Amino acid sequence: MSDAALPEARPDLDAAADEVERLIARIVQLRDEYYENNASTVSDEDYDAMVRRLEQLEEQHPELRTQDSPTQTVGGRAETTMFAPVEHAERMLSLDNVFSREELAAWAARVERDAGRAHVRYLTELKIDGLAINLRYERGRLITAATRGDGVVGEDVTQNVLSMGTIPAQLTGNGHPDLVEIRGEIFFPVAAFDDLNARQAAAGERVFANPRNAASGSLRQKEEGKSPERLALMQERLRLLRMLVHGIGAWPVRAIERETPVTAQSEVYELLSEWGLPTSSHYRVFESIDEVAEYIRRYGENRGGVEHQIDGVVVKVDDLDLHLELGATSRAPRWAIAYKYPPEEVHTKLENIVVSVGRTGRATPFAVMTPALVAGSTVRQATLHNQQVVKQKGVLIGDTVVLRKAGDVIPEVLGPVVELRDGTEREFVMPTDCPECGTPLAPAKEDDIDLRCPNARSCPAQVRGRVEHIGSRGALDIEALGEVGAAALTQPYLPEEAPLETEAGLFELTLDDLLPIRVRVHDPETGMPRVVDGETKLVAPYQKKNGEPTKGATELLANLEKAKTQLLWRILVALSIRHVGPVAARALAAHFGSLHAIRAAGRDELASVPGVGPIIADALLDWFVVDWHQEILDRWAAAGVQFETPGHPGPGAAQVEGGILSGITVVPTGALEGFSREGAVEAILAAGGKAGNSVSKKTDFVAAGPGAGSKLTKAEELGVPILDADGFRRLLEEGPDAVR
Ligand code: IVH
Repeated sequence: MSDAALPEARPDLDAAADEVERLIARIVQLRDEYYENNASTVSDEDYDAMVRRLEQLEEQHPELRTQDSPTQTVGGRAETTMFAPVEHAERMLSLDNVFSREELAAWAARVERDAGRAHVRYLTELKIDGLAINLRYERGRLITAATRGDGVVGEDVTQNVLSMGTIPAQLTGNGHPDLVEIRGEIFFPVAAFDDLNARQAAAGERVFANPRNAASGSLRQKEEGKSPERLALMQERLRLLRMLVHGIGAWPVRAIERETPVTAQSEVYELLSEWGLPTSSHYRVFESIDEVAEYIRRYGENRGGVEHQIDGVVVKVDDLDLHLELGATSRAPRWAIAYKYPPEEVHTKLENIVVSVGRTGRATPFAVMTPALVAGSTVRQATLHNQQVVKQKGVLIGDTVVLRKAGDVIPEVLGPVVELRDGTEREFVMPTDCPECGTPLAPAKEDDIDLRCPNARSCPAQVRGRVEHIGSRGALDIEALGEVGAAALTQPYLPEEAPLETEAGLFELTLDDLLPIRVRVHDPETGMPRVVDGETKLVAPYQKKNGEPTKGATELLANLEKAKTQLLWRILVALSIRHVGPVAARALAAHFGSLHAIRAAGRDELASVPGVGPIIADALLDWFVVDWHQEILDRWAAAGVQFETPGHPGPGAAQVEGGILSGITVVPTGALEGFSREGAVEAILAAGGKAGNSVSKKTDFVAAGPGAGSKLTKAEELGVPILDADGFRRLLEEGPDAVR
């Protein structure tokens, strides 16, 4: 069942409370997964449906609305920790969708009714499956390029966007407004994508699930800490990215009409093109919605042949005056709609069903298929979730299967093509023992369908998964660790050469541990170990031919040294405690200030921290009582890992009397020099203050840096004192009186 198919509202409060609890746990888990992998196992639609359902239940039963509900906490799934925040001058909206000709006609009828016109001209363009970007130009100069983020605040990716080489730093022509935001999509061209994945696989790096992930992964890279070779690769990947612009924000229609002779969306594209911006050649203007529907039908029969992956057709009202009249909902403009094509389906061969064990011990069967091109990307594998799903789908190993993929959505095996069976197919049997360590698999709870390997401490698959997780961007961000490094450290060719039995030894690693490691070379096509003349090919990733350590070895040790003093919340995420992802970890770190204080807290205190709640509180208590977890903490501490935030005044800092900002609410906004966004928030909390997210009369100070937008305007309107980065620093050090 898809996550979106949730039961209807039930009047019974207990049942609602159960459902709320389940939804919160699932949403938090998905949000964390998104932070960690920059990808998700559910579609945006399913995720949104869950959040909407939660809002609906909270609306019906306000007593169930807790402070730590994802509907109340800041940071949608797009929140990030890597790039400086940029506030968009105008909110970046989304699009509503229709899925049939009838729904499209109904949308057009509403448009024509609301506009009071029998004849409306429509423009169609392709819906680019990429990453939404906002380019802010002031008097023709590019000031920032930012990702969409939560629609209000995105990430500053200006440098990387400029490195693409196709986005002008200075617009051509003249008559540029003081401020204009240009919206568009950055994408990875399909042809370059296949090539990139082949190279990634050959280098033993992770391959991308689809061009959209590749675009996001390429754009969201940081230069810092990269070796010259990696820097060159990063630049090369950035140059492969392309952008197409598809609209304007923060330049009101009235102003467009006043300052330029432009009155229609199609003319906007001509203007943007004159300014040197990349516009698509695939837009068309039609005189009626019937013509639009016919175009969509014809185009749908023969999608492809376009440089980028598409996930539908966007239909826009062409007349800009009507944009103004029709306006927007809080989510999307009323003058545009996305027509989504149904998911694509192809046939391919199910070569095998293999069981893999993940970081948490879950044993998941997945389909290994003959590579097939579907919805723009090559698919080789798809999860089959568990043995019951395999049964329900009725697939046999050797079957021709129907494989479905909708745009960016995860590929799914729908079922077998029974007519094509020839009798050689065989049934999949779920193993009874862990394929990696031989421990009997068992459900975690009595009626769970999922089977787990209970050998959490030593199962190589779980240790490898946890070590890889420690290095991930959402945890300690150790670039030199990664999937390949984690495998080398935990599962080299000879088990006795493995320097790590568990993650407890990670920060004790020395060159002598790394040099002897040898690993198998895998074939990027098949993923199988390469064998030449009957011998398994091996390489020593950390030792050069002359016996010297490789760059990877020295980098890994240097990265580990640096990671010891990472922020407390990142250390918490690195511990792989169930449900403790970045959101909960940040809340815990801000409230308690040290691992010691978290450990000393009781269930109620843990559960009462906004962003934590009872499920996470229990998970923490369960984690601390396991001896080998204690061993991790002891050995990491002995190796110098810092388990506290220096200067934090102790549990409940925000309420602590005597903190220099006690009783003071500060709203940070824009890029405050010398502070990351999370750094600014932590500094406020550490000084005993409250870090607000929106400006009201109760706000004591707004700390604003470049890129600040609506919060700054609001502060000006309300007369709230505004501080720049220096003022903010003074406030933190000397208190409110010094800056009032
Ligand atoms: S127009 C006010 N046109 O799809 C929003 N969006 O699913 C107007 N997208 O957020 C957006 N191709 O990032 C527009 N040709 C196109 C598009 C397009 C892709 C993205 C855009 C939007 C998302 C909604």
